[in-house]
Amino acid sequence: MTIPTLQVRVRQVTWEAEDISSFEFVSPKGDELPSFSAGSHVDVHLPGGMVRQYSLCNPPTERHRYVVAVLNEKSGRGGSRSMHQNVRPGDLITISAPRNNFPLHPEAGRHLLIAGGIGITPLLAMVHQLNAIGANYELYYCTRTPEKTAFRDALARIAGTRVHLHHDGGDPSRGLDLKALLWTHEMGTHVYCCGPTGLMSAVKTAAAHWPQSNVHYEYFAPLAAPAGTAPASVDDTFEVRLAKSGKTFTVTPDKSILQALRDAGGDQDSSCESGTCGTCATVYLEGEPDHRDYVLGDDEHKKFIMVCVSRCKSPVLVLDL
Ligand code: FES
Repeated sequence: MTIPTLQVRVRQVTWEAEDISSFEFVSPKGDELPSFSAGSHVDVHLPGGMVRQYSLCNPPTERHRYVVAVLNEKSGRGGSRSMHQNVRPGDLITISAPRNNFPLHPEAGRHLLIAGGIGITPLLAMVHQLNAIGANYELYYCTRTPEKTAFRDALARIAGTRVHLHHDGGDPSRGLDLKALLWTHEMGTHVYCCGPTGLMSAVKTAAAHWPQSNVHYEYFAPLAAPAGTAPASVDDTFEVRLAKSGKTFTVTPDKSILQALRDAGGDQDSSCESGTCGTCATVYLEGEPDHRDYVLGDDEHKKFIMVCVSRCKSPVLVLDL
């Protein structure tokens, strides 16, 4: 899958909360930008060659700009730091066209949005969209302190009493009571969660009795395995055959399918390389994949494999390449 890219001008950088700034991108020629839906993200090609995914948080009806918000993660891998330090108004940067792995369910009767920290970004776009169509929704927004709560005023203005802020002061024992919130599953309600891995895991546990097709997650990073647990499966060696080119190569435990594919001269786009963005989705024709991504649902897993993280349980995997 080749992802179209475009050049945009950074029109504005705005302080939104402690360590959080938003970045507004516009077309350098003033053209309309490709449309997007709530929950979409773009890949941002940063100075220095890093590529990071950021959710769009402005109203999806807007065609003249994209807005992303970025938490300056001082102990992160450097992408957010680079955004804060190196990206300035007036710069030209390359981004991908928007892609959506986290859409609103079109038939939901009610939407329950749960955000943690900077995970508010895709949910803010959802609030814009749901509010515009008069949908039934509530937003639960968890942060440490009011000072670390981006878009507080905007949310109060747009969504009023539908927004429930919760500050835990950095103490997980004072976190939002997710068990109580998700205790009752009402038919037609869909849950959307984006935030730190601790919050995502807690929602997963609290919503374990919900139909899994009604609970949607947007991951920034892979979930860590709980301490003391074994990996999902041991990485074995297996063969990959490319149906169209006829090439065959071996994937050893120290390599991903993506790396082995590239070593064999193949070409496949990638971005996050951690199973969270959806870029490397590849159709498979035979074999028993060991899916390890955080993007695809069960139905999509019947057709696609994320070659950056997934493995194969059978001796041979045939890809439609
Ligand atoms: S490159 Fe992002 S899911 Fe594979």
